[in-house]
Amino acid sequence: MTDKPFLYVVVCAAGVAEGVSKLITAAQERDWEVGVLATPTAMNGFFDAAAVETQTGRPIRSAWRRPGDPRPFPAPDAVVVAPATFNTVNKWAAGIADTLAVGTLCEACGLGVPIAVLPCVSGALAAHSAYQDAVARLRGMGVRFGDPYAGEAEGDGGRREFGWERALDLLPGG
Ligand SMILES: Cc1cc2nc3c(=O)[nH]c(=O)nc-3n(C[C@H](O)[C@H](O)[C@H](O)COP(=O)(O)O)c2cc1C
Repeated sequence: MTDKPFLYVVVCAAGVAEGVSKLITAAQERDWEVGVLATPTAMNGFFDAAAVETQTGRPIRSAWRRPGDPRPFPAPDAVVVAPATFNTVNKWAAGIADTLAVGTLCEACGLGVPIAVLPCVSGALAAHSAYQDAVARLRGMGVRFGDPYAGEAEGDGGRREFGWERALDLLPGG
């Protein structure tokens, strides 16, 4: 146990998730204790789960605990969602808590915990009005969004850096 503030890092199933260790390192350097929650799809090979567990010193949470089991993580002082998928953002705004990740995000909003989101959503999906409504709704609930990131190749064929630390900068005092 430490007296450091506790940060939940919620990882969704987007290709850039493979780089999530960069966010964990940056958060630990800013003196956060980190616990990772991942969607069930993200656990299906989108990042190196064993490496993340070694890095955080805690198991990744993806499924609901059994009734009567203790809560594995302390309550969060802040939450970052990176990368955030089209699917998870839409479900979160609609209150469809069918994964531990989305249920935790819905609850964190209700508790007034600061939440920062780095979406990774293609331009085609981001144009869907349901997504635009979801982002507006979550912003209205106090959730902070980083600039859009489509994960698509740019003119030179390369991809822009995801910029993991933006998530920490969006948090109060970040
Ligand atoms: C290789 C791969 C990369 C993907 N990248 C993205 C992405 O960048 N953004 C996105 O919204 N969905 C992406 N998807 C689709 C999501 O994985 C899919 O919508 C999934 O249902 C999301 O689940 P989750 O929101 O519970 O993590 C990708 C799928 C695959 C197979």
